[in-house]
Amino acid sequence: MATLWQGRFGETDPAEALLDYTVSLGYDKRLALDDIAGSKAHVAGLVGAGIVVESEGGIMQAALDHVREEVLTAKLEFHPGEEDIHSVVERRVTELAGRAGAQLHAGRSRNDQVATDLRLFVKRELRQVARNVVRLQKVLLGRAIEAGDAYLPGYTHLQRAQPVLLSHHLLAHGWSFARDVERLEDARRRADVSPLGAGALAGSSLALDPDRTAALLGFARRFDNSLDAVSDRDFVAESLFALALIGVHLSRLGEELVLWSSEEFGFVTLADAYSTGSSMLPQKKNPDIAELARGRSGRLIGELAGFMATLKGLPLSYNRDLQEDKEPLFDALDQTNRGLSALSGLLATATWNLARMRQAADTPFACAVDLAEWLVAAGTPFREAHAIVGGLVRDAMQRHVPLDELVEAHPALGGDAVSLLEPGTAVLRRTTPGGAGPVPVRAQIESFKELINKVELELGGLSQA
Ligand code: ARG
Repeated sequence: MATLWQGRFGETDPAEALLDYTVSLGYDKRLALDDIAGSKAHVAGLVGAGIVVESEGGIMQAALDHVREEVLTAKLEFHPGEEDIHSVVERRVTELAGRAGAQLHAGRSRNDQVATDLRLFVKRELRQVARNVVRLQKVLLGRAIEAGDAYLPGYTHLQRAQPVLLSHHLLAHGWSFARDVERLEDARRRADVSPLGAGALAGSSLALDPDRTAALLGFARRFDNSLDAVSDRDFVAESLFALALIGVHLSRLGEELVLWSSEEFGFVTLADAYSTGSSMLPQKKNPDIAELARGRSGRLIGELAGFMATLKGLPLSYNRDLQEDKEPLFDALDQTNRGLSALSGLLATATWNLARMRQAADTPFACAVDLAEWLVAAGTPFREAHAIVGGLVRDAMQRHVPLDELVEAHPALGGDAVSLLEPGTAVLRRTTPGGAGPVPVRAQIESFKELINKVELELGGLSQA
């Protein structure tokens, strides 16, 4: 069997168990197009360096284009025992281009090659994830606009705290996803460095020009240090972190939908198309997407933690351990994209139970702070005001008297203060910038909309690139 190192090893075939354990073709075939792009730039570099004559360079480029077509039409064949996508592409180019093909790997190692491929891949994929995040943000925005002045209880410690607009609550998730988009773009910037030309670890004696190949591949710049270029997988770790945190955000959103769709909350009815039934209990409708968003975030966190553990003990420069970067990265990307799309659909089709939300928010105790602040406005120090209202709440609970009666009877409060307990009043009084009431939320919706439009433009639209 032909290996890339048969000159050194002679006729000895690799052991079955070695192949079985080390082969990466099953998953790194996903890098085929990036590997071809990297190879095309490398061939241009070899021609530029005068190592390959123009005519041979042309033959190699044509062969690479041919392999590209084969990849796109699913016609590229793998031979038994082939180790990775780099070997497959090189073998195929050599089949097609003969002697010219044998020059393809001059001045290059799979070490700089795989790092180049993966950076090209990551740059594109992180963009795509960002687009999918923005799609979900647009669903949140649409539902926030449509929610108008509907309100529900805001919670702390999962206890009803103060009423907030539904739109405010939805956009709270929207802003966490806005940070995710920033993080993806930030990680992408650091991935945007070409390792091509670093060779196995030390650069080359051939007159290659890493600046030129970096430019040909659309990278912002080339590596500064060849050892770092082939060792660095920070861009994978950063991508995994950005994805894991998106996973955590989807999980928190999912958890709320699980709660809200329970009979106990009853704030939302999930669409049938985005729910599952029970195999035994005919009455059940289950929020499986939301639960899986919660559950799968554990896997994303594991992929980040696992890969950090892979990296932590590695000496410079390339070590085969680094091959462990791909599976977690690919899986994290796939799962994140699926989660974003499923949650987008779930949110877009859910029906809010606004009456139920309102009813849950309209408990007089949720207005307690308004009573205290009313006293503050009238000159009472806040600690005193807090104690007065706290005393009334305790009294109301212990003696089972309505709070408004006690408020009315209190000398410092009285009839005017009772109006604060009117249903729907508390949320209107949240007027400070960024607050939960209609006035600041209208402004918030505008700035969120502006941000989304700007980001959408920066991403070159939201359709698949
Ligand atoms: N499959 C390897 C990886 O993904 C690239 C090949 C480098 N292998 C080597 N023996 N130098 O990292």
